[in-house]
Amino acid sequence: MSQPLQLLLIEDSEDDAALLLRELKRVGFAVTVTRIETEAELLDALENRAFELVLCDYTLPTLDAPRALEIVQASGRDVPFVIVSGTIGEERAVESMRAGARDFILKDRLARLGPAVRRELTESQARQEKARMREQLQQSEAVLRRSEKLRALGEMAAGITHDLKNLLAPLSLHLQLVERGLRNGAPKDDLQGSVVEMKQILDRGIRTIERLRAFSRQAPERKAELIDLRRLAQEAAEVARPRMASNQNALSTITHELGDAPEVWAQADEVLAAIVNLVVNAIDAMPKGGAITIRTGEERCGGWIEVEDTGPGMPPEVEQRVFEPFFSTKGADGTGLGLAMVYACMMRHGGAVSLKTAPGEGARFRLWFPPPSPDSIRT
Ligand SMILES: Nc1ncnc2c1ncn2[C@@H]1O[C@H](COP(=O)(O)OP(=O)(O)OP(=O)(O)O)[C@@H](O)[C@H]1O
Ligand SMILES: [Mg+2]
Repeated sequence: MSQPLQLLLIEDSEDDAALLLRELKRVGFAVTVTRIETEAELLDALENRAFELVLCDYTLPTLDAPRALEIVQASGRDVPFVIVSGTIGEERAVESMRAGARDFILKDRLARLGPAVRRELTESQARQEKARMREQLQQSEAVLRRSEKLRALGEMAAGITHDLKNLLAPLSLHLQLVERGLRNGAPKDDLQGSVVEMKQILDRGIRTIERLRAFSRQAPERKAELIDLRRLAQEAAEVARPRMASNQNALSTITHELGDAPEVWAQADEVLAAIVNLVVNAIDAMPKGGAITIRTGEERCGGWIEVEDTGPGMPPEVEQRVFEPFFSTKGADGTGLGLAMVYACMMRHGGAVSLKTAPGEGARFRLWFPPPSPDSIRT
């Protein structure tokens, strides 16, 4: 059975064209041919004709193979281009192949034509199949990314709903109590407790909202700057100290050990907030006091800053979930957004967070920054 072939033939000689077509027919092709001789005709064919292969004479009155090849390539069509010429020096042949011609065949050796065409068609089909698969892969990756985003959004929405419900249910209960009390002329002191509770609930709600707002702030307002991680470590300790003093955790100590640390491109405010989050977690983890150490250092892959505590550490099931938005073991006292913010911040900086912990052995969170480059930050 003959194999159909849609051919674009760039050839000025009627006789040579007939010769080529006869050879193709002899080896089993049923050829549909568009024969052209000029640049204008080539452009027209590229625009309006379907073909699977170009056979091109090397020299024509107003066109030559290198120019034709250039035009075909510029059109973006991936069709094999084979030169068929009476005379082609070795140098020209090599040059053409380098430019992207798939093969060259001498007119007095037409026996090579059939196998060459067959090979080119097979390879071209394989290339097209590969391109199609790559495109499909890209499409399914995009779909996956979108669905991951949706899933994250869904989890976030579920978390917010859960948090709000936890706040609103007791709020409504206390309101009912106060309402009933007022109706029945209850003494002021009886209502006081509910009012205090309601205020605490509202404070918690406001805190959650503030955290969420900071969390969802996509484009950071301030520009990245070259910052010294050691300066940041000192600042974080200063910010945290009064918090510890005002807390029952006055027994905790905070120190910094400042090793070599390169300058890194970062948004100082955001990173400072991340470190303070880590310090506050460490304080929370050690109600009876303990030691918190902030360290800086440098490795080949970039600079780091870490917060280590001597608290109770975490069991694996907590360790695995700490970066999840809304994951908290602190009940109503925690929003569970602290570490999710730290994680998002480091992703934006093109860096990473690592955590080393075990039950009874404290916890160490380390923030990694890539080596300085102005485009380290993804906004
Ligand atoms: N240094 C630490 N030691 C032990 N457990 C920790 C430490 N840091 C975080 N965790 C655990 O990770 C959980 C999540 O922390 P994250 O900062 O995200 O939220 P949170 O501290 O519970 O709430 P919020 O940050 O709003 O106060 C904490 O509830 C706690 O169980
Ligand atoms: Mg926290």
